[in-house]
Amino acid sequence: MFLAFLCGCTPRLGRSSDERVIAAMTLEEKVSLLVGTCKDWNLVPEAAPATRHREPVPEGYWDTYQGNTATMRGKVSGAAGVSYAIPRLGIPSIVLADGPVGLRIDSVCTAFPSTALLAATRDTALVYRVGQAIGKEMRYYGVDILLAPGINIMRNPLCGRNYEYMSSDPLVAGQMAAAYVRGVQSVGVGACVKHFAVNNQETFRNGIDVQVDETVLRDLYLKPFEQVVRDAQPWTIMSAYNKINGVYASENTYLLTNILRGEWGFDGFVMTDWWAEEDPIRMQQAGNDMLMPGTQEQIDTLIAAVRDGRLEETVLDRNLRNILRIIRKCPSFINQGKTNPDNTDLHQMLTAHAALAREAAAKGMVLLKNERALPLAPAPRSIALLGKGSYDTYTGGTGSGAVTKAYKVVLSQALTEQGFTLDTIPEQRYLSHIRHSRSVQPQESAWFMPYVSELKWTKTELRRMAKKNDICVITLQRMAGEGGDRQLVEGDYYLTSVERNMVMDAAETFHAEKKPVVLVLNMGSGIELTDIVPYVDAILMAWLPGQEAGHAITDVLTGSVAPAGKLPMPFYERYADVPSAANFPSSDGDPNKVCYREGLAQPARTLFDIGFGLTY
Ligand code: GLC
Repeated sequence: MFLAFLCGCTPRLGRSSDERVIAAMTLEEKVSLLVGTCKDWNLVPEAAPATRHREPVPEGYWDTYQGNTATMRGKVSGAAGVSYAIPRLGIPSIVLADGPVGLRIDSVCTAFPSTALLAATRDTALVYRVGQAIGKEMRYYGVDILLAPGINIMRNPLCGRNYEYMSSDPLVAGQMAAAYVRGVQSVGVGACVKHFAVNNQETFRNGIDVQVDETVLRDLYLKPFEQVVRDAQPWTIMSAYNKINGVYASENTYLLTNILRGEWGFDGFVMTDWWAEEDPIRMQQAGNDMLMPGTQEQIDTLIAAVRDGRLEETVLDRNLRNILRIIRKCPSFINQGKTNPDNTDLHQMLTAHAALAREAAAKGMVLLKNERALPLAPAPRSIALLGKGSYDTYTGGTGSGAVTKAYKVVLSQALTEQGFTLDTIPEQRYLSHIRHSRSVQPQESAWFMPYVSELKWTKTELRRMAKKNDICVITLQRMAGEGGDRQLVEGDYYLTSVERNMVMDAAETFHAEKKPVVLVLNMGSGIELTDIVPYVDAILMAWLPGQEAGHAITDVLTGSVAPAGKLPMPFYERYADVPSAANFPSSDGDPNKVCYREGLAQPARTLFDIGFGLTY
């Protein structure tokens, strides 16, 4: 081998043509490069919750918890996947890591606002900057491909991953995603647009068969992907778990080769979603170039298939050409795997990115109602701050879209910093309740958010607060994430009676003192608000605003940043008004299929329409 290299006989990536490099590969090397190296990793399962939550939790809450999760230890600890290296041919392994709201590895990265919030900014320059910032953190840590953005259409408000997606409107989703991808790739790392295609729910996502009309498929669900491919040339695409009209997306030649490459000119590589269990042979033939995170079984299947003639080796070569073309662009190839090739000062970078996270979060918040309540008059002003979310503000959702962040700023902290005086009775009661609730549950992790119930307030307590304070601010929050959809139950899509009474009783008591009530929504997408909207004087959709949550919400409440966000999806008066309501998450009582019978239908009526947003 070494002599061959000396005489220049052994080709090397970047110095020889990709054709020559592929021709020099053994069959085992070819297949190993087409399949991720997860098989070589020590899977370190994170502990599942030792005990279920002791307090009653809303029905369906635990459905979102995925139980044992495996943290793969590879080249960059906590990264989602690594490709196979062939050093004798100059081919390094490349590192792939999540996710849409920030780099998800074991090291500290910036938790940016949810991508639904970014889409609400309608500010492509800002979204580009966020993408670029994530790209810089990738270069620092040695990650080559970011498994983001997720751009599946928000077909239904119950989809558990709406916080990681962009919009229910294909043009908004495509435009914002293209800016995001251009931002990431502007610093020489790659994006991976996902999940291609029609992965619009989490329920039975690995097997559901999406039945959708060709025109609707192209004009609505594929449109954002087409725009991103044509406008931003993403290095990679991730195929979805589900079936489309009977054929798995990852085995779908019509989708992955005819449309994606033939019509749109995509020239990167396609990878599977993680642990997609479809047939490796059919996936390779369809144009699903890389199987992630990779198993020995997939390798064995492909080698055997080539040897017994069920799979043409030319198919492997075609897919390898797509992969090598991208590897040659990756920092792991160009910088030979050296991390921090730009000699970046980590603290300086994370400080700058925290400021960007705060700026972006404030700009994407949507003012849904304001009757002489906002902006808050300059401090010092006394606030009766209610709602557990005011003291334990959610920054992002759960699942692969979570981020290992250094800190989070909650609303109570930020208001205090701004000189507001918080009523100590609710403050102390919430802090104690949150501490206790968390103490009896497993630690918060990427896949699990401890449940905290809402506190009850009597009218007597509220009357005291109304006399003592200048204003009441209430935060309602919801958690959601990968692996499960939200439920049509109180505490999820519907308000609990405790929440409803808190808002209505606060309104009655504060309005009796001619003082306003402001509602802050800390969630990834809408809930049914209709009954309480008339009671409050202002409503701010704060989304899941990232690690700078409290600062960004306060910036908008005080008017130091005027709200400019526009809803990227409608808020509905009633769930029945959602066009897909009759067909979510399945159709005709058959859990194996979902029919997109609503087609391109728009909601008959909305509480707040897509594009709605007030300012000061
Ligand atoms: C998942 C998700 C995908 C993510 C991947 C790697 O199952 O569906 O969005 O990028 O695994 O974590």
